[in-house]
Amino acid sequence: MTTNRYAVILAAGQGTRMKSKLYKVLHPVCGKPMVEHVVDQISTLHINETVTIIGHGADLVKTHLNGKSEFALQEEQLGTAHAVMQAESVLGNLEGTTLVVCGDTPLIKAETMEALLQHHEDQNAKATILTGYAENPTGYGRIIRNNTGLVERIVEHKDAAEEEKSVKEINTGTYCFDNKALFDALKKVSNDNVQGEYYLPDVIEILQSEGEIVSAYQTSDFGETLGVNDRVALSQAETIMKRRINEQHMRNGVTITDPNNTYIGSDVKIGRDTLVLPGTVLTGNTEIGEDAIIGPSTEIKDCVVGSRTTVKQSVAHNSSIGSDVQIGPFAHIRPESSIHDEVKIGNFVEVKKAEFGKGSKASHLSYIGDAEVGKAVNIGCGSITVNYDGKNKHLTKIEDGVFVGCNSNLVAPVTVGKGAYIAAGSTITEDVPGESLSIARARQVNKDNYVQKLNDKK
Ligand code: UD1
Ligand code: CA
Repeated sequence: MTTNRYAVILAAGQGTRMKSKLYKVLHPVCGKPMVEHVVDQISTLHINETVTIIGHGADLVKTHLNGKSEFALQEEQLGTAHAVMQAESVLGNLEGTTLVVCGDTPLIKAETMEALLQHHEDQNAKATILTGYAENPTGYGRIIRNNTGLVERIVEHKDAAEEEKSVKEINTGTYCFDNKALFDALKKVSNDNVQGEYYLPDVIEILQSEGEIVSAYQTSDFGETLGVNDRVALSQAETIMKRRINEQHMRNGVTITDPNNTYIGSDVKIGRDTLVLPGTVLTGNTEIGEDAIIGPSTEIKDCVVGSRTTVKQSVAHNSSIGSDVQIGPFAHIRPESSIHDEVKIGNFVEVKKAEFGKGSKASHLSYIGDAEVGKAVNIGCGSITVNYDGKNKHLTKIEDGVFVGCNSNLVAPVTVGKGAYIAAGSTITEDVPGESLSIARARQVNKDNYVQKLNDKK
């Protein structure tokens, strides 16, 4: 018979020590809110029901975790035991094992939680604490064992006596409980302590004193135990998570020249033999193909990038970029752009909400916004779409094979027909028929001997 498993994530606190308008558990680590890291790890385990306890910033937390968890509201934050109590209406009567995790321990790994659950069930324990070892345990609850080595209780840093403070085995804030024993014991927790809070760790002492089996499982990975209460810990979490993510990509066949100086979000995917150069920031749902070269000094967010594509010293957001494309140096691909295969977007070119068909080029100093550019189009240096009339944005259509001469203005709405040529320096205000040449500029006038005449007048 397999045991039913549930999870409770504590995420109702304000996080006073962060000194922030943003609620603690929503502070991102490698681009993703702390609590979402925790929930995403839990979602890979076999769990029947996941309940997140929300309070401060409840609506925002709900939005971030939409579809990934159930929620229970803790109106007043009276402590971690009180927080877990709020899940009683959902879980109170169920048989099984309940995993409790703090929303501010973003580095906790699914495999460690699985090992904890396994250990707990193997030991037939009523409670099992995931403990860690901290060189500097300041701020953490300490694990107090009796002279036979069994866990007796957890004492909070603020409540600890001097000799208890020297204990380096800490409570990571992750636990497993027999679900019924948990809710029975929670009712017995008091708030008679320095902080006047209902402490979840007190459940350990309660169960222990009732003669129940209380166990501990120690992780050797300090990173996983890191509880983020302030921004110093936040940057430590970022450093550890960054290393973890970068190492994973390297093991999967991605070359990262300078992992300390490369920032990759936890949901980013990168294909084999892609080279990521220093100063690169890849975030959101970005997906990069194989054999690509990304960076140096490049920011890509929520983009799909094909194979063998090069993106250097550039910024790209919320767009798709095909294979064998060259972007940059110094290009800006703004949202809703679709760059097909073999395109070149070169030096100082800005693209916004534009489609570029296969093999088209805008190599230098252009702005192409609200545009549909066909295949094999050449946009000459300095040419721009004049997409905005001060009130509305208009579409520019440039059909296949068009050659736009340098420094042209295409005043939208306008269509340049297939294969047409536009003479350099033209300001195009009307549609251009396919296969034609359009010249829209004043004719050149040369005044012979003009200088001589000017001098004669003086
Ligand atoms: C807690 C543990 C401590 C452990 C440490 C690990 C308690 C009393 N102490 O301390 O033993 O070493 O975590 O990181 O549990 N929360 C609520 N509602 C509340 C209070 C807190 O949802 O009423 C949430 C917070 O949002 C946070 C988590 O519970 O995500 C932990 O609370 P926090 O105040 O950070 O506890 P610590 O002091 O870090
Ligand atoms: Ca904490």
